[in-house]
Amino acid sequence: MNSPQKSVKIYLAPMEGVVDWVTRDMYSRIGGFDQMVTEFIRVTDRVVVDEVLYRYMPELKTGGRTLTGTVVLAQFLGGQPQPLADSAARAVELGALGIDLNFGCPAKTVNRHDGGATLLKFPDRIENIVATVRKNVPAHVPVSAKIRLGFDDPKMCLINAQAAEAGGAHRLTVHCRTKTDMYKPPAYWEWIPQIKEKVKIPVVANGEIWSYKDYAKCALITGCDQFMLGRGAMADPFLASRIKNKDESLPDWEIVKNWLPYFFDASADYVSPHFAQARSKQWLRQLSLTFGEAYPWLLSFFNEVKVITDPNLFKEKIAVFKN
Ligand SMILES: Cc1cc2nc3c(=O)[nH]c(=O)nc-3n(C[C@H](O)[C@H](O)[C@H](O)COP(=O)(O)O)c2cc1C
Repeated sequence: MNSPQKSVKIYLAPMEGVVDWVTRDMYSRIGGFDQMVTEFIRVTDRVVVDEVLYRYMPELKTGGRTLTGTVVLAQFLGGQPQPLADSAARAVELGALGIDLNFGCPAKTVNRHDGGATLLKFPDRIENIVATVRKNVPAHVPVSAKIRLGFDDPKMCLINAQAAEAGGAHRLTVHCRTKTDMYKPPAYWEWIPQIKEKVKIPVVANGEIWSYKDYAKCALITGCDQFMLGRGAMADPFLASRIKNKDESLPDWEIVKNWLPYFFDASADYVSPHFAQARSKQWLRQLSLTFGEAYPWLLSFFNEVKVITDPNLFKEKIAVFKN
């Protein structure tokens, strides 16, 4: 095994409806991630109540970290600076160790209600939001921002990156696509060196890193030493640790498969067996795409279990994955 790349930082991407408390906890146990983010907490015209903050971020009860110690940032989304800042400050009072601001969400409902990627058209608003949040939380608490390249114009990334820095963001994550691109490959990593010429804060490269090879190419093109993994981490839960260990081997189903029954049980304990079944199917689908070529039976297994409606039966079926 190669010596670990201590200088490389890897973050688990925020993913609404995917990266919840259970997933963060499990990925923290699996290892390789330096930080994680909650699902987005939407803020409209008033401060978010504690109950909602605790629901999105149960880690508030464990010092702002997962049970195995990974720092989790509270992620906020909205267009009104003061309610965002007040909500962020409250999250910090309750135990959040950092705040992340989402300027990239493409969802229609979110954008219609003034938040997410629509703000990429208004750099001054990005600066104002970051600055207001920055001012409202103690100076030692990091406030990061996450952008896409633009709403429909990728050049906007240069101005928006400067806006986030001027507002006081300590770090900027760039999902290297516009909102109009949605999730269509490729990710345009080549914008990152241009962004890095414009700002001094650390820039995190995000988008389309599915394998060690992708990571190596992204590192070469961007010159970054900080990366965020989203769908690639769901498809290959050990990708972050293999990147850290400079291990170019392919994902290993024999190791990954054990985590499915664990994930089901943890999700069932945390929410409900039906929830666990839905989330496990979602993850199994992603895994069957990764491993289906090497294990073609996995695709038929997924097709068989995806129609099961009884969580007990589903649990029995996936028990075959336990070593
Ligand atoms: C299901 C899903 C939900 C997402 N939710 C969020 C979110 O809440 N906040 C955010 O900033 N980005 C969100 N994203 C975008 C990801 O954080 C990430 O930027 C994007 O998936 C690109 O990275 P990837 O190619 O590694 O997946 C989401 C993406 C997906 C697929």
